[in-house]
Amino acid sequence: MEPDQRPLAVQVIDQRKLPFAFALLTLDSVAAVADAIRQMVVRGAGCIGATAAYGMVLAAREAEGSWSQLQRLGKTLTETRPTAVNLAWAVTRMEQVLLQVPPADWVERAQLEAEAIATEDLAACAAIGRHGLKMIQALRLKQDRSAAAVTNILTHCNAGWLAFVDLGSATAPIYAAHNAGIPIHVWVDETRPRNQGARLTAWELAQHGVPHTVIADNAGGHLMQHGLVDLVLTGADRVTRQGDVANKIGTYLKALAAVDNGVPFYVALPSSTFDWKLRDGLQEIPIEQRDPREVTHLLGVAPPLNNGQELEFQILASSSTAANPAFDVTPARLITGLITERGISPASEAGILACFPEMA
Ligand code: MRU
Repeated sequence: MEPDQRPLAVQVIDQRKLPFAFALLTLDSVAAVADAIRQMVVRGAGCIGATAAYGMVLAAREAEGSWSQLQRLGKTLTETRPTAVNLAWAVTRMEQVLLQVPPADWVERAQLEAEAIATEDLAACAAIGRHGLKMIQALRLKQDRSAAAVTNILTHCNAGWLAFVDLGSATAPIYAAHNAGIPIHVWVDETRPRNQGARLTAWELAQHGVPHTVIADNAGGHLMQHGLVDLVLTGADRVTRQGDVANKIGTYLKALAAVDNGVPFYVALPSSTFDWKLRDGLQEIPIEQRDPREVTHLLGVAPPLNNGQELEFQILASSSTAANPAFDVTPARLITGLITERGISPASEAGILACFPEMA
């Protein structure tokens, strides 16, 4: 068949450059989309899922009517990053709808489905915001706080609007509470090694006018011991059907400290982050091992050096080696509740299935 010549491209925010520069990047091939996910131009579970869905629109054109080629291109996208399940979920969903239509309709059908995935992602985050707001209000009632008392929320990594199509998962309740006039302050873990908390979450919160303070990753336990954290709220990259949560490395330690200090630990996720095939997160969730250079080096600006452009600094002797596991698994038993678009459930198979009975 004749190749479809219509120009197609997806435009994304280059998240590597934030917060020092805001730049858009245009991706016009599957290879470019795969590279953008691999290089973390786009990152965060929902965002890479939606980007991969649009990548499949490009795949629908590049496959030129060949189903096996379409599958190869889908595999290229899926294999870019292993832990966040939204990526494979989006590619599989796109393949399933394309299987139902003739190749001549692939591009048009793929566009519709990618649009649907993006719209659903936003709707899920908005619903998470509504459920999370109720949880924050209930917590304040339980604590018998005055209207002026500040609720301190600790978050790890970036599960904000940059990590989704909009609003974010962990940040949606924060924005909802702030918009409702509840005094909120957010402790933002810097989130070494790539500093998504310091670079992205802090920038997002500042744009929205939400009071926040960036802390070293190891400070959370100390703050909890001194009653300075009312609630921990994180996102997730993959959650098993029994409620084990894979999220950015360091999340598990925050959950341990939260349990030890009686601080509620909530995880916010759209249902596209559930991996319904898995039960035991520790044994079954693949953990991405990233370049040790992210540990041995730091990126940042040091004006007037390099005209204010980012520089990379080595922070340890070349005689040492480094390891860089990018995610860890927080067992369900440490989690107070999961906030999804369907409501708040206990982190247990029974609790999750009460919200998602169709997955029983
Ligand atoms: O490696 P990243 O930046 O893609 O990691 C994902 C994350 O940002 C976090 O783990 C986040 O809390 C969950 S993604 C919504």
